[in-house]
Amino acid sequence: MTPAANSIHGMWSTRLAFILAASGSAVGLGNIWRFPYTAGEYGGGAFVLIYILCVALIGVPIMMAEIMLGRRGRQSPINTMRTLAEQEGLSGRWQLLGWMGILSGFLILSFYSVIAGWTLAYVFRAAAGAFSGIDASGAEGLFGALVGDAERLLAWHTIFMVLVVGVVARGVASGLEKAVRYLMPALFVLLLIMVLYAASTGNFNAAFAYLFAPDFAELKGHAGEAILSAMGQAFFSLSLGMGAIMIYGSYLKRDASIAQNTLIVAGMDTLVALLAGLAIFPIVFANGLAPDSGPGLIFQTLPIAFGDMPAGALFGTLFFVLLVFAAWTSAISLLEPLTAWLVENLGFSRVRAAVLGGVTVWLLGIVCLLSLNLWSDVTLFGKGFLDLFDFLTANVLLPLGGILIAVFAGWLLARASSVDELDLGEGLAYRFWRLLIRYLAPLAVTLVFLNALGVLKFFGLG
Ligand code: TRP
Repeated sequence: MTPAANSIHGMWSTRLAFILAASGSAVGLGNIWRFPYTAGEYGGGAFVLIYILCVALIGVPIMMAEIMLGRRGRQSPINTMRTLAEQEGLSGRWQLLGWMGILSGFLILSFYSVIAGWTLAYVFRAAAGAFSGIDASGAEGLFGALVGDAERLLAWHTIFMVLVVGVVARGVASGLEKAVRYLMPALFVLLLIMVLYAASTGNFNAAFAYLFAPDFAELKGHAGEAILSAMGQAFFSLSLGMGAIMIYGSYLKRDASIAQNTLIVAGMDTLVALLAGLAIFPIVFANGLAPDSGPGLIFQTLPIAFGDMPAGALFGTLFFVLLVFAAWTSAISLLEPLTAWLVENLGFSRVRAAVLGGVTVWLLGIVCLLSLNLWSDVTLFGKGFLDLFDFLTANVLLPLGGILIAVFAGWLLARASSVDELDLGEGLAYRFWRLLIRYLAPLAVTLVFLNALGVLKFFGLG
């Protein structure tokens, strides 16, 4: 059977549109909020090195596989997996991979929207001059006041979800594509300005060494957990393991090179994360802040920088506006798989589908934001809901989805199909991809899981 030429949901108008949309999905709070504080929690350099290895050796081949499967199936991940499995004579139960992705997308978007709400709130704080002359304890106080206020968080979370549903409801070409065209380059430029500022006034050398001179002694005692987190961060940041990139691949035309597009997207995503680290850590060190202060890190450091630089209110406002846009273009990719499925299987209009998905996520988001204040002593497995959803998705569900995608693409899909789809010929590049997707990616992810669970240690191997 020849694969469908087009998706019923529409198609990216150009190859550039796909690159912008996929990097819009990848580049988001994961790079600028999550990467620096996670690297800080695990002591910097060693974590960063493991992270980069995970992106290159696990993330890149899996991203190629996701785009490939999406483009061959041309439907929501659930129906794509079912169709492709049936074409290969396999069980239709492979659609469970799609369902798992829907669950991951729900959980991620519910807390993602809350954090994006913090970012929205900070746009207005920056614009009102609240950062001017602020010191470390002032910045902490400002952040604490926001996070402790459930009503405020609810208001911002609601506004953000409305923005997300608004774009998803408009559809692929008119909604998703337009949002990313100018915003991504603008964010990049502003991040560069921040790095230059940090280099001129902050403790840049200390930050550089912190991020790029690996000190494996830092990992002592929690190496397994650090490796799991670095791998989870790679999946989260590249938007892998839940079908977001798969569905974006389903809108990609057949003549576009999957390998080339993947390298561009993964390269940009990594660059933005590293730049964010270089913008934030000089300020952390110059102001005697703790690198491991957790999810509030950028909200407690950047205001100090903006409060101190010339035209800081302007730059601060601009920065948080762009971060909102980065979060927005990521969030729409989290809602898209479910929306497409509701349209395909239940015959919903796009608008109804997006609204239904959005409302469900919004409700779950309330649970997340309450865990920061009124429900702060309600814990499950020792974590509040927001932390729990974050841990469960990034460190468990996404890598698990990644293993299944790798197994399907590397072992079950006919070799001829992947040769045809990747269009690399049968040369070295294709063989290298196949090696990574069949052996390295699934084995590495499995070992990292077993290691974190203490299973390797039990057998005297860890
Ligand atoms: N990659 C995004 C970020 O770094 C978040 C995101 C968007 C995501 N779509 C995803 C994470 C799909 C996992 C799966 O902010």
